[in-house]
Amino acid sequence: MGAIEGTVALVTGAAQGIGRAIALRLAADGADVALVDLNEDKLAGVAGEVAALGRKSTTIVANVSDRAQVHAAVAQAREDLGSLEIVVNNAGIVQVKPITDVTHDDLSAIVDVNVAGVVWGIQAAAKAFLEHGTKGTIINASSIAGHDGFALLSLYSATKFAVRALTQAAAKELAPHGITVNAYCPGVVDTDMWVTVDAEMARHTGAAPGATYAQYVDGIALGRAETPEDVAGFVSYLAGPDAKYMTGQSPLIDGGLVYR
Ligand SMILES: NC(=O)c1ccc[n+]([C@@H]2O[C@H](COP(=O)([O-])OP(=O)(O)OC[C@H]3O[C@@H](n4cnc5c(N)ncnc54)[C@H](O)[C@@H]3O)[C@@H](O)[C@H]2O)c1
Repeated sequence: MGAIEGTVALVTGAAQGIGRAIALRLAADGADVALVDLNEDKLAGVAGEVAALGRKSTTIVANVSDRAQVHAAVAQAREDLGSLEIVVNNAGIVQVKPITDVTHDDLSAIVDVNVAGVVWGIQAAAKAFLEHGTKGTIINASSIAGHDGFALLSLYSATKFAVRALTQAAAKELAPHGITVNAYCPGVVDTDMWVTVDAEMARHTGAAPGATYAQYVDGIALGRAETPEDVAGFVSYLAGPDAKYMTGQSPLIDGGLVYR
């Protein structure tokens, strides 16, 4: 019997990468899972993987930058799966550009997903928890770039610092209701996002394809890139009863890369 047996978790960005791994880990831990993403086809694949673990899921196509869609997704998760105790605001996008070149459109686009998406996710989860008297938990995706600003990742870093701020403020507001809010800060995780980062970095710096990724991985004390499952294991802890006395925190889970 898993530590979160009988609970329901909602995970955004669940169609691939870290979100998929989190959804599968929480399912393996005993939760039913609402899978939220823009990519309907890939969501269906993850739903099949959840079923193979013996848990129920529901797939919800929604854009996290749209407040109404996020609130509707939370309501649908409760309706389809019967309750809701865990909300993981994982969906995010990256941009690689020199700060001298970023435009207002660049800023709006990344803030809409990485900041507004987390605001709506916290808000919708909190309202649902308060309405039903649920002492639930909210877990947000920050990053090593939420602790250090990285070159060519200025806007991305700014959004991930913002996630830490939102996590702290929401934790303080919601603590009196028994609701906890934490974040996870992965390092260099082997997903499509890093394929984009490597290619875009190469375009701006002239590095060979793969060289930026290799250079970052070289800096990791534990000597290897992070897997989505490394992140999911930590999120499983945050979602479970052992983390019930923790709130407002954004710990690094990066194999030893950024130290705080
Ligand atoms: N990959 C890394 O090295 C790394 C490191 C630190 C933090 N993170 C963070 O972890 C999270 C997941 O990253 P990943 O590497 O799995 O990325 P990914 O690009 O592989 O997957 C992101 C998923 O989010 C979905 N998505 C994007 N925008 C969306 C939107 N507006 N609404 C709904 N869904 C949307 C995509 O369709 C995709 O399925 C992100 O918040 C990212 O910033 C990643």
